[in-house]
Amino acid sequence: MDLKSLIREIPDYPKPGILFRDITTLLRDREGLRYTIDFFTEKCNAAGFQADYVIGMESRGFIFGAPLAYKLGAGFIPVRKKGKLPAAVHSIEYELEYGTDCLEMHQDALHPGSRVLIVDDLIATGGTAGATAKLVQKLECELVGFGFIIELRDLQGRNNLPNLPIISLIEY
Ligand code: PRP
Ligand code: ADE
Repeated sequence: MDLKSLIREIPDYPKPGILFRDITTLLRDREGLRYTIDFFTEKCNAAGFQADYVIGMESRGFIFGAPLAYKLGAGFIPVRKKGKLPAAVHSIEYELEYGTDCLEMHQDALHPGSRVLIVDDLIATGGTAGATAKLVQKLECELVGFGFIIELRDLQGRNNLPNLPIISLIEY
């Protein structure tokens, strides 16, 4: 299936100069959505990802992370923007293609030795995924790799990630 044809491009959103890759047009397409989750699962299995938990980052990482966790037989752990999680958290600041932000994860969500796969809809600068990786690695967990639906190659986000397997379904 031609997944690129289901991703809408919005110029100058949310700031001038940013070409926004809009996944809502993929999500509303029933065949596209099913194909994306099934293909994502296949690629994770082919990469040999053995994860106890999938971590997804707010908000678009939740949309793909939770069904992927279900398909891989893993648990799902949300990493959220500052102030949204109710129990004690670990926090980390990070930079976006269009600003800065802070991510948090519940302190009791992971235990040393847990095998973790980090999933998001898109990698741009790698700030979000790189910060999440730091959170996971501080907790002495085993980070098995990263999965993205979309990778913006020009921004070289991979350079901000640890040297582990990375899969992406669509590249620009
Ligand atoms: C977007 C996207 C990734 C991140 C990628 O999230 O969903 O999480 O940016 O950019 P980076 O590789 O430069 O860090 P955003 O923070 O816009 O939040 P949203 O998912 O709630 O829209
Ligand atoms: N997150 C960071 N950069 C983005 C882009 N160009 N399109 C959609 N989401 C993004």
